[in-house]
Amino acid sequence: MEHRSSEHKGEAMDFETFRARAEDVVAHHAVVVSNPYTTWFAKGEANRDEVRHLTVQFSVFSHLFVEAQLRKVINAADRDGYRAGKEILLNELGVTFAGGTVDGGTFRFGAAHFEWLLKFAEPLGLSFTDLGKRRHGTASTLFFCDELVRIYGSEDASVAEGASYAVEHWAAAGFWKELIAGLEAFKARECPGLALGFWTFHDALEDQHAAHTEDELREAFETDGFDEARFLRGASEILDGVHAFWRGLDDDRRTVAG
Ligand SMILES: [Fe+2]
Repeated sequence: MEHRSSEHKGEAMDFETFRARAEDVVAHHAVVVSNPYTTWFAKGEANRDEVRHLTVQFSVFSHLFVEAQLRKVINAADRDGYRAGKEILLNELGVTFAGGTVDGGTFRFGAAHFEWLLKFAEPLGLSFTDLGKRRHGTASTLFFCDELVRIYGSEDASVAEGASYAVEHWAAAGFWKELIAGLEAFKARECPGLALGFWTFHDALEDQHAAHTEDELREAFETDGFDEARFLRGASEILDGVHAFWRGLDDDRRTVAG
């Protein structure tokens, strides 16, 4: 009885402990601690071929992400999660937000994120058939895409929640700004026609996302069947996938340069 009541009293502390551990997993992961590729890219020294290579690999990740997001919607644990997943999925496909939601928003072909990327890629001499297909992905890019489907789109709600949490915190940690800095330098130097909408939109969206997940973390924690260990494993494993993606780009850059 004594043990039981002390366990009960400890519930609030448990959430704080869990939250601290989740924050730790993200904050200390290698890809968050240092990302040599985006650090280098931000300096603005990438040449045309390097910008093209980034564009193609990013297009594969960003296009195949739609598959993972659809799985996330299908595997959602409840209707709120299902709707939250659809907000991201449908915006990705071209439904504009109307007051922060796609509900009542308008679909436009040109508002699909992939179409923004097509527009961005045009002055680089890349067209529809050069972008966004599995066949264009390197082994490390495809590893990341497959991990997204497996972990972010997992049937196990604890694993999927962990992956969402990690991906959103990683994405808010500043890599968009590093890419934008490098792209602006490249644009000013040799490619004035470059339209950066795809990149600036995502950068602006991220702060909103991260704020979201603090509430979601508590909701997830309080859901029946929630498993802390599986959440943390999902978070850590998806970041390994993210890390593989950037390390792949970094290896390619060094190989080409050398
Ligand atoms: Fe997107």
